[in-house]
Formats: sequence, structure tokens, C-alpha cells
Amino acid sequence: MHPLNDMGQLLNLSAYQSRARSLLDPAIWQYLEHGASEEISLRANRTAFNNWDIPTRPLTNVNGGHTRQTLYGQELAHPILLAPIAYQRLFHEQGESASALAACAQGGQLLVSSLASQPLEYIAETSDSNLWFQLYWQGERERTLRLLRRAEAAGYCAIVFTIDAPVKQATLVLPAHIHSVNLESIPPYSAIKSDQSQVFDGWMAHAPTWDDVSWLRQQTQLPLILKGIIHPDDADTALKLGCDGIIVSNHGGRVLDGTPASLTMLPIISQRIAGQIPILFDSGIRNGRDIFKALALGASAVLIGRPYIWGLASAGAMGVAHILRLMRDELEMTMALSGCATLSDINSSKLFSNPSNQ
Ligand code: FNR
Repeated sequence: MHPLNDMGQLLNLSAYQSRARSLLDPAIWQYLEHGASEEISLRANRTAFNNWDIPTRPLTNVNGGHTRQTLYGQELAHPILLAPIAYQRLFHEQGESASALAACAQGGQLLVSSLASQPLEYIAETSDSNLWFQLYWQGERERTLRLLRRAEAAGYCAIVFTIDAPVKQATLVLPAHIHSVNLESIPPYSAIKSDQSQVFDGWMAHAPTWDDVSWLRQQTQLPLILKGIIHPDDADTALKLGCDGIIVSNHGGRVLDGTPASLTMLPIISQRIAGQIPILFDSGIRNGRDIFKALALGASAVLIGRPYIWGLASAGAMGVAHILRLMRDELEMTMALSGCATLSDINSSKLFSNPSNQ
């Protein structure tokens, strides 16, 4: 049966997850779902949510409640953004443009990856509103600047600089028709001699540093948001360098295994930033209660990664839009039952710490 003809059976996220798994090539499924090494951080991203309970607060008047949020001058219908995910034509032939359409239809936002499988200008045209562009360092300043200028010219309205994945990990061999169409080919780095380190003398020799963040800050008037902050000192440095926001993220547990769960670090980072710039959050969000907990612990908005790709793989733009709607409905339900009419009512007093749930 055509996936869109039986969408009625896709009632929740786990149905989408199962459907996506059954439709995707096992190697692509593995690429989507895997975490680094022993997947300790991948699992920790989920279990960290169990440290917090949400007490119900009956009889609170929540008339007129809503989930609207304004970020960098854009009014969003809800605080659920679509995380940058590479090569989306692996999952559906309409790739990133389907995700852009869904984000727009649901009053949300898509962060388009530097590793998108469609031209960034084409993806921007799909959406009525301006999208955000996720920038990966291109080995040197000039090449990185050319990519930034293209995103600016195409109307992207915020730059999200991902800082936590400088080293290439063993990954999927891409099918011939899918590649990073927006990137210039980078000349091969000079060969590593046998007494040299592939990490320090190879990849890391071309990785960005804080000096490059400082330089990047001077290159654009657009909001600059750093994605991949886990240490509070790095949050401080981002603030001092004039960044407009940070995303507390461990890249969905895909980079350094053993790095803390994003949620564990969120309240610590939030305390350090003390409301001076917006904090966004991702890694491990799977339902509306998780979103509520992240907002209560200091996030202004959250990003979801793998769950919307389950929607994309199952039913294209319709599937992504439905995932967003399901999550928003759950968030609204959680807010209503915990006595919160608006996002500004959600704070740490709405949670109970309960480490015994582990
Ligand atoms: C990612 N992520 C990612 N991040 C980024 O900044 N640029 C990218 O191109 C990608 N690509 C990518 C591919 C795949 C298959 C996955 C699963 C993840 C990380 C992503 O933006 C986000 O941080 C995590 O996916 C959030 O965790 P959850 O929601 O998947 O648990």
C-alpha cells in the first residue's frame, strides 16, 4: 500500500518509527539511529529525562493557553524546531524541501544542514518563511565565508554554527545520486606520514577554533547561534564572543561516547547564562513531556532530530507535519495538566527531581 494511503495507522511516534524502519534500507536505518561507540551517551540522552517528574496541578485556569514563542524576531506557533539532519534524500525523494514545507505549514522552523542533499536556494524557495542555515566549517575561512554568503543571499535568517563534530566518524557510503550538493570540493588534505597522527595532524588541523568563532561573528549581521555546547565554560565563551544563542546538544549521542546527556547539562548551563541569550536544546526528545522538561530546565525552544525523519521516511512532508502536530498536542496536554497556560509559565518549579526513577 502507498504510505500516504494508510497514514490512519500512524497514530503515534513509535508507529512512525516502525514504519520508517520497515521502509528504509537497513544501512540507512543504522546511519539514522546509531550513536557513537557503545551508545552510552545515546541511551543517557533518554534516561536523563526520567530524573524529572511533572506533578499535575488541577483546577488551574489555563483558558486562552497557547504555545507561541518568538525567537530572533520570528513568531513561531510552537517551540519545536527541526534539527539539521544531513542528506535527507536518503529518507525520502523530496528530502529537505519536504521538511521545509512541513515546518512552514506547522508554524515552526527548519535548520537546513550544510550537508543538505538539495540546493540550499531550492529548499529556501519551498518555504514561505525564512529558514535557518546550519553551517559546518569548510576547512578554512574563505570557503566557509562563501557558503555563509550563499545562505545569506538565499534569505536564510539565522546561522547555526555546529562546533561539536570536527572529526569524521566512520559513516554511511552514500548512494551515487545523493551527495552534499552545496559544498565545494575540498582538495584532499596532504597525506599523513606514518609517524603522524590522523587526528591531530589530519582532521583537527582543519577544524575551527574559538578564534574562528570570533572571526565568524564579525562576518555576519544575522543571529549567530552555536550548536553543540555541553560545557558551561563554552557557553560562557560563546556569550563573551557575542553569539546570539547556543544549542545545548551532544549531537544526539553521535560524536563522543561518554559525553554527558544534554539534559543533564541544561540546568547548569542555564544557570550560567542567566537569561542573557536564548538557549535551545536537543538530543533525546521523543514526546511532549520531554519538551516540557527541557523548557522547564531553561530552554527557550527545542530541536527534534530522528523523530521527524521517521515522519519524512514514512510519508514525506505529511509525515513530518504530523510528527510536529503530535508533539505539539502532547506539549499542550502536559502544559494544561501541569497548570501552565503559556511557555513563560513553565519553569523549574513545575518539576520534581526524582533520580530514583532510573
Ligand atoms: C544529525 N545531526 C546533525 N547536526 C548538524 O549540526 N548537522 C548535520 O548535518 C547533522 N546531521 C545529522 C544526521 C543524522 C542522521 C542525525 C541523527 C543527526 C545532529 C542533529 O542536528 C541533532 O543534534 C540530533 O539529531 C538531536 O538528537 P535526536 O533528537 O535525534 O535524539
